[in-house]
Amino acid sequence: MMQRLDKVLSEAKVASRKELKALIRSGAVAVDGVVVRAADQKVPEDAVITVHGEVVAKMRRVLIALYKPAGYITATEDRVQATVMDLIPEEYRKLDVAPVGRLDKATEGLLLLTNDGELAHKLISPKYAVQKVYYAEHEGEATQADVFEFEKGLVLGDGTECLPAKLEPLGPGKSRITICEGKYHQVRRMFASRGMPVTYLSRLSEGPVTLEGMSLGEMTEIDCDIFDFD
Ligand code: URA
Repeated sequence: MMQRLDKVLSEAKVASRKELKALIRSGAVAVDGVVVRAADQKVPEDAVITVHGEVVAKMRRVLIALYKPAGYITATEDRVQATVMDLIPEEYRKLDVAPVGRLDKATEGLLLLTNDGELAHKLISPKYAVQKVYYAEHEGEATQADVFEFEKGLVLGDGTECLPAKLEPLGPGKSRITICEGKYHQVRRMFASRGMPVTYLSRLSEGPVTLEGMSLGEMTEIDCDIFDFD
């Protein structure tokens, strides 16, 4: 896979994206022995990049799927509470992976982690509308009127406007819901706004990534190219 030179250098923490532009333009950067002055030059993954003659240690780009159990907070560190990073082996923590978005402490299910800032940004941005599917257990039973209101776009009590969501009632107290954004406590607040407080929540999938074949607390590495944003 080809990547922009400035992106590779910024992921290797050589300098900030802005500083890199000047650095590259100054002629300090060479790719496979040839000086490159364009920050947007595409370079192959196995290229040897040097800055002032020193070889740049590139960090492997990784994407991880974690089947998060309840009881862990989505954070990279916390002095008191267990974090999702406690479930990630050292070899991946060393690669600077961080959670993409967040799942509440009580929520189970699929949590993605990556060290690729651009990928993380796209996964979160409503512009790219990555679909997230949740299974919810809640009080009451969702009706066709609820399906219609979710589809229209709910307005929560504090005025927060939600994008249209797909609600699939699965019988008394159970539903599946698909949303393409991630506002604070969004799913819980959406159900609560229709008088159906959530008692259990699990994220089943995010775009093409699912929990299939995974057990609670387990993680697996995924090919970063599984998300095709072009
Ligand atoms: N919506 C919620 O309310 N909580 C989560 O953890 C995820 C989505």
